[in-house]
Formats: sequence, structure tokens, C-alpha cells
Amino acid sequence: MLVLGIESSCDETGVALVQTQQQGVPLLLSHGLHSQIAMHQAYGGVVPELASRDHIRRVVPLARQVLHDSGKAMVDVDVVAYTKGPGLAGALLVGAGVACALGAALGKPVLGVHHLEGHLLSPFLSADPPEFPFVALLVSGGHTQLMRVDGVGRYEILGETIDDAAGEAFDKSAKLMGLGYPGGPALSKLAEQGQTDAFKLPRPLLHSGNLDFSFAGLKTAVLTQSQRLGADLEARKADLAASTQAAIVEVLVKKSLAALDQTGMKRLVVAGGVGANRHLREQLNAQCAKRKVRVHYPELHLCTDNGAMIAMAAAMRLQAGQQEATRTYAFDVKPRWPLDMLSQSA
Ligand code: KG4
Ligand code: ZN
Repeated sequence: MLVLGIESSCDETGVALVQTQQQGVPLLLSHGLHSQIAMHQAYGGVVPELASRDHIRRVVPLARQVLHDSGKAMVDVDVVAYTKGPGLAGALLVGAGVACALGAALGKPVLGVHHLEGHLLSPFLSADPPEFPFVALLVSGGHTQLMRVDGVGRYEILGETIDDAAGEAFDKSAKLMGLGYPGGPALSKLAEQGQTDAFKLPRPLLHSGNLDFSFAGLKTAVLTQSQRLGADLEARKADLAASTQAAIVEVLVKKSLAALDQTGMKRLVVAGGVGANRHLREQLNAQCAKRKVRVHYPELHLCTDNGAMIAMAAAMRLQAGQQEATRTYAFDVKPRWPLDMLSQSA
């Protein structure tokens, strides 16, 4: 079965083609991505209307390119999958509209995918895919969750952020330091030249006794510290970046270890844009090696949004019998859609 996946929930247009196999995980045949970062950079963040318009421009040419690269034709596609939510409403509508139009034109079924399930299953696209069950640390721009994952569609949230997500903490702190958008990669690059213990920053909810997170206070502490530094900020920016990153990473690592202890599991899967962070990977690898826990990550270029994870999640859901693709082409999107509601509302 050939599944075409379309991602358009935020500022990347992604299209990919995966093929299910008799045995093992589906195979990624080809994928294409257009990042809108350069376009939004002038505004310091994502402008939703510009995002939608750009998705409209990019999605069909990208689909053509992906089919061409894989040597397949549009009529070979068996299922058209798209990101149904969560995300920006207008941006989601572009992918959903194009996917349903393609499905209707080809007479092929369509399937709406949960964006976070895409991230969650993206490590299955790597050369060394995980096995179920595992604990998942999902760290994207809008979500920070620890989950127990027993199989496709079998997700239990163990803890999550009560305010900002980890990606937001990176982005907002970076903005305060004048590092622009997207802040995470910029802050993490600058942090490589700084001292992690240069500034004492809070580790919110580190000892809360549960698996929830809170990053809003950290951003305020970074703001206070920047104001205190005044004219010295420029010279101390790398130290502040390193200290901020260390605070975020320490909380993510300690809570992940606590989730592993709580569930007794020996496998951790990290997914979402912040999963690309080098310091986080180093710390998790070191701590998990000590405890004989295997850690799986998506390949670096598939940590942030892409079409491959959407095609993969759709293929895995279909294979697991979790969902059927339908020939109903009247579509809706779900800009807000908690992952644990997936089985009830798909
Ligand atoms: O998963 P994603 O592409 O989008 C959402 O679904 O939200 O994640 C984007 C987030 C942004 O907050 C971005 O700053 C962060 O991931 N990010 C990073 C790194 N690369 C991306 N944060 C820290 N270090 C990185 N290397
Ligand atoms: Zn995402």
C-alpha cells in the first residue's frame, strides 16, 4: 500500500510517500519539504495568513516532486493522508483541502492524522526503529508531554506542561536575547560557546513529585537576568544561552528518568523539534546509558515538521487496524486536539 502524506500545520510544507511492507515498519520512498522560515523571519515569528498562502503555493509542486523522485505516479497512490490538527486553522485547511481533492479526483480514500502522533512515530523512520512499549518524551514548539506508549494509538499521558512548552521556552528566551526566529536552533548554537553554570536559573517543577512541566517562570527569569545585565548582555549572551539551555534540558532529562522509573520501562523515545537539541541528546544518552535504557530519536532532519512522519503515522495506523481511510471528502480540521482524545475523535 502506498501512502502519500501531507503536512501543513505550521511553517513547513511537507509531502512524503511511504510503502507498507509485509513485515516490519513501512518504508519511506521519498519526501520533500519547503520551510517558510526565511519568509517569516522578517516578522520575528510565524504569520498565519502568510503561512496558509505559502502552503497553497508549495504543496502541489512538492507532491509532484515526491512522486517523480520515487518513480511513482499519482494513480499508484492508495491512500492520501494529511495533518488534521493540531495547528494553525488556515494552514491545516490547505493540506486537508488538497488531500481530499486529490483523493476525490483519484477515487482513493483519505485519512486525517494527528500531528503529534506523527512526531511520536517519527523515530520509526530511522534505521534503528524502536519497539513497543516505550516512554515517549514529546518536545515540540507547542507541546511538552511524557507518554506511555503501548502500541499505535495506545497512548497514556503521564505528564505535560502546565504553561509554556519546552520549544516555546527556547523560542521566547531566544527572542529576549535578540536571537530571532526560530529561537531554539539559534540559542542552542550560541550556547556551545557559553558556560552552563554562569547564571543560576530556576528548574521549574523539578521536585514536584509528578511528571508535569512548567517553563513560563524560566522565561521570566531570563528576562530579569537580561535586564540586570543591561549593556553587558551582548558580552554574556553565550553564557546566558548556555545556562537557559541547561535549565530546560535538566528538567526534561530528570522528568524522563522519573517516567522510566515510574513505568519500569527500559526504552525512551524522544520526538519533536527540541529532540534535535544536541545538549539534550548528550545528557539523555549519558543518563540512559547508566541505567541501561535504550534511547531512540528521529533522524535529525525529521525532528521538526515534515511530511514523512504524517505518511508514516497514517501507514502505521492503517496497518494496526486503528483507523480506516474513508472516501468521505468533506473535511474538517482540528486546530486544538489533545493527543489522548485521538481514539475517541479520529
Ligand atoms: O516539532 P516542531 O517542528 O513544531 C511543532 O510541532 O511545534 O518543533 C519546533 C520547535 C521550535 O520551538 C524550535 O525552536 C525547536 O523545536 N527546536 C529546537 C532545536 N531545533 C528546533 N530547540 C532546541 N534546540 C534545537 N536544536
Ligand atoms: Zn510539529
